[in-house]
Amino acid sequence: MDIVLMGVPGAGKGTQAAKLENTLHCKHISTGDVLRAEIASGSSLGKQIAGIIDGGDLIPDEMMVSILKNAATGTDKGIIFDGFPRTVAQAEMLNNMLGQLGRKLVKAVMIDLSEEAAVKRLCARRQCHLPDGSVHQIGPDFSPEDCRAQGGSLFTRPDDTPEHIRHRLSVYHQQTQPVADFYKTQGIYAQVDGDKDPQQVFAELLAVLQA
Ligand code: AP5
Ligand code: MG
Repeated sequence: MDIVLMGVPGAGKGTQAAKLENTLHCKHISTGDVLRAEIASGSSLGKQIAGIIDGGDLIPDEMMVSILKNAATGTDKGIIFDGFPRTVAQAEMLNNMLGQLGRKLVKAVMIDLSEEAAVKRLCARRQCHLPDGSVHQIGPDFSPEDCRAQGGSLFTRPDDTPEHIRHRLSVYHQQTQPVADFYKTQGIYAQVDGDKDPQQVFAELLAVLQA
C-alpha cells in the first residue's frame, strides 16, 4: 500500500508517518530527512542542498526525483511518502516512477492544520541528534533528559526560525497546495483533522486508509 502524506510544514507528516511505519510495517520516506542526511554527509551535493533547504525553498524537481528514486527502489514493502510530491510536476513524476516499478498510490491524505497552529508548533520544535546519527523529535515519547542521557545534543532545525517558517508556508501555498487538486482529480484524496492529539489524528488516519 503506497501512500502520500500531505500538509503544511508542521502539520504532523513526520509524526504520523513514523506511527504508520510501525503499525503497517511500511517504509517511511521523508524527502526532508533524505536531504538533511545528504547535508550531514558533507558532500558537495549536500552543500548545494543546504543553501536551498535552510532558506525554505524547494529543491529542483529533477534533482528531487532522482534522489527519491534511489530511496524508493528495492523494497517490497508499502511506502509512505512524507513531503513528496510538493509540486504537480513531482506528482506526475511519482505516478510515472511507481508505474515503472509496478506500484500504485492508493491514497493521498492531507493532514489539515491552520497556519497559525503550524507556526506555533514549528517555533516550539526541538530535536535531538544521537551519536549513532539518528534524529529524534522531543515530545511525550522522548524528553531532553532522554537525549542528554544517550549522549545526544539538542538542536533546532535551521529552517524553523519565524522568518523561514513564514517563507515555507508561502512556498507551500504557491507550489504544493495544487497537488491536493491533482489527487482529487485522481479520486484518491482524503483529509484528516491535524489539530487533535497525535493519537486521535493517527486513529482518523488509519480509518481513512482502511476505508
Ligand atoms: P520537510 O522536512 O518535509 O519539512 P516540512 O514539510 O516543512 O514539514 P516538517 O517536517 O517541518 O513538519 P511535519 O509535517 O513533518 O511535522 P512534524 O511531524 O515534524 O522538508 C524540509 C525542506 O526540504 C523543504 O522546505 C524543502 O526545502 C526540502 N524538500 C523536502 N521535500 C522536498 C520535495 N519533495 N521537493 C523539493 N524540496 C523538498 O511535527 C511538527 C511539530 O509538531 C513537532 O514538534 C511535533 O512533535 C509536533 N506535533 C506533531 N503532531 C502534533 C499534534 N497532533 N499535536 C501537537 N503537536 C504535534
Ligand atoms: Mg517532517
